[in-house]
Amino acid sequence: MSRRILVVDDEPKLCDLLVSALTSADLHVLTAANGLLALQTLEHESIDLVITDWRMPGLDGPGLLGEIKTRFPLLPVIVMTAYSTVRNAVQSMRNGAYDYIAKPFDIDELDITVHKALQFGDILRDNARMRAQLHEHQQIDSLVGESPAFSRVLQAIESVRDSSATILLTGESGTGKEMVARAIHNHGSRANQPFVAVNCAAIPEGLLESEMFGHRKGAFTGALADRVGRFVQADKGTLFLDEVGDMPLPLQAKILRALQERVIEAVGDTRERKVDVRVIAATNKGLLEAVANKEFREDLYYRLNVFPIPLPALRERVEDIAPLARHFARTLGASTGKRINGFSAEALQAMAEYSWPGNIRELQNCVERAIIVAQGATIEAVDLPGYLFHSTPAIDREPGVEAGVPSDLDGSLAQMEKQFMLAALQQSGGVQAAAAQLLGISERSFWYRLKKLGIQVDRIAR
Ligand SMILES: Nc1ncnc2c1ncn2[C@@H]1O[C@H](COP(=O)(O)OP(=O)(O)OP(=O)(O)O)[C@@H](O)[C@H]1O
Ligand SMILES: [Mg+2]
Repeated sequence: MSRRILVVDDEPKLCDLLVSALTSADLHVLTAANGLLALQTLEHESIDLVITDWRMPGLDGPGLLGEIKTRFPLLPVIVMTAYSTVRNAVQSMRNGAYDYIAKPFDIDELDITVHKALQFGDILRDNARMRAQLHEHQQIDSLVGESPAFSRVLQAIESVRDSSATILLTGESGTGKEMVARAIHNHGSRANQPFVAVNCAAIPEGLLESEMFGHRKGAFTGALADRVGRFVQADKGTLFLDEVGDMPLPLQAKILRALQERVIEAVGDTRERKVDVRVIAATNKGLLEAVANKEFREDLYYRLNVFPIPLPALRERVEDIAPLARHFARTLGASTGKRINGFSAEALQAMAEYSWPGNIRELQNCVERAIIVAQGATIEAVDLPGYLFHSTPAIDREPGVEAGVPSDLDGSLAQMEKQFMLAALQQSGGVQAAAAQLLGISERSFWYRLKKLGIQVDRIAR
């Protein structure tokens, strides 16, 4: 992988010297004539090392070093200083420079210092990535959000977590129902017991009863051995009935009995078994409507609806969009090894104005994609999917249509393809062969796509 070094010096000759001394197959050298220009470059380019002069007009070496330490803390900096002023070098090391080189310098020494600094940067970044992963792991239940709408959810979780009362989580797709269910379990008195999730919509109707209650060997064709059902697996712990609105009516009657009497019967077994489970059910369907349509038993509805927690849609908690986006940028950025330090004001505004029919999951996907597309350390508005900027989102919001599914697949794919092509072209400075290589496709295929998508290369600013 090619590494990128930014040389900052107001003297063009010295910049040229460093460019020719350092440029190699795996080193690419960019230059900036002063500290401010350097910061601009750092915002838009991915840079692995900065070599800066100490004395410069405008933002000087110490100033630049300070800015880098706060804004790009993982980026190593080498300071250049004249022999006569080695004091400066000592000062710069104190301020967080990785090393210094005294002018005039020996090219071989320079080479060694640069490679060591690059290695140091790698270590810092690996370290940060591992720490972020650990953090994510420890805080897997950390529910991000402080908006009034979400604070009500947090209060509800708090008041119910230690009881065994049945909970009904309702909310659109992607609002965090499963995450909340796990948080209730993990922070409640049953935390050391199993959490068993069953997606009622994903199990074939014929198998649901045996899945839930288990079966005895020989109970039906194919029942080759005894099987323990989910209720028993969840004994003493929590049973999460996801998509409970999709449960077929015959099974609803059996679940109702299990919830009322806390006993279950395996298929093909005449003995009853007592179980102690806390049930958390979730649905993105209007259950009352299903009750009215006779698709859902009224008695089961009341059994489940003991403690309802409605989860707000993301558009009802706009205040949480930026913190959630930053949370995903941090965790996802760290796991891909990319340095993302935030979002531009325009990007945040676009995200705040969008309606997010797919809620938090859609936001998470959007950030994940933006991290891939982003050129620099800041996610800009152009890195976000185009449909965020259209008044009618490309994502269908008709009832009954799964959110997160585009209404025009070909159109959406072409739009994504175009964005990736543009990103590659920008990264390659408009060089088509290099852009094709970045995308792992042949030049011929790249050229074909350019024509197909109507991309004009000469318009791409560098
Ligand atoms: N408060 C939150 N803080 C951080 N991440 C969250 C939060 N809520 C949800 N998420 C993340 O958003 C994604 C969607 O959440 P989850 O799967 O819990 O939603 P859901 O309501 O069960 O969706 P569906 O109805 O589609 O099953 C997950 O990746 C989850 O980790
Ligand atoms: Mg879910």
